[in-house]
Amino acid sequence: MLAKLEELHKICFPHKSWSAVDFSDLKKSGCEIIGSDNGFIVWRVVMDEAEIITIGVRPDFRKTGMAAAMLTIAENEIKKSNVKKIFLEVAENNIPARKLYEKNGYKQIGIRPKYYDGIDAILMEKRL
Ligand SMILES: CC(C)(COP(=O)(O)OP(=O)(O)OC[C@H]1O[C@@H](n2cnc3c(N)ncnc32)[C@H](O)[C@@H]1OP(=O)(O)O)[C@@H](O)C(=O)NCCC(=O)NCCS
Repeated sequence: MLAKLEELHKICFPHKSWSAVDFSDLKKSGCEIIGSDNGFIVWRVVMDEAEIITIGVRPDFRKTGMAAAMLTIAENEIKKSNVKKIFLEVAENNIPARKLYEKNGYKQIGIRPKYYDGIDAILMEKRL
């Protein structure tokens, strides 16, 4: 499972890949991970807030609704806790991800200038 996540993350994020150890550390720190052969999503709940840490889909499985389905599964798990808001950050130039989040009810609430190697991060929130 961890080796598969490492492989998939490298495919989805070639310039900032996470290792199996990184994923193991995320689990140890309280993150939840759902992964399959073709996609993964990582999130964390702290008190009454949650954060989508990352999401990725293998390129040949994109545009089939997989990310939206994983987001819904994660949100349904998050709703089992007393969570009021879900946050996430996305690079300003990552149009597929921004559209995914907007379509699923996430609203822009701020900007972290030059957060990703000179690219602004858009901070988004969904109220449950
Ligand atoms: C972002 C990503 C997870 C989307 O995965 P996906 O499985 O293709 O997304 P879905 O098929 O569930 O698409 C859901 C919605 O997202 C939007 N979307 C997805 N890909 C898009 C694209 N290439 N261009 C524009 N909008 C897109 C659309 O609104 C789409 O709904 P629609 O098909 O009804 O128009 C995928 O492109 C990916 O893995 N990218 C690399 C990793 C990454 O950037 N992760 C996000 C980090 S914040």
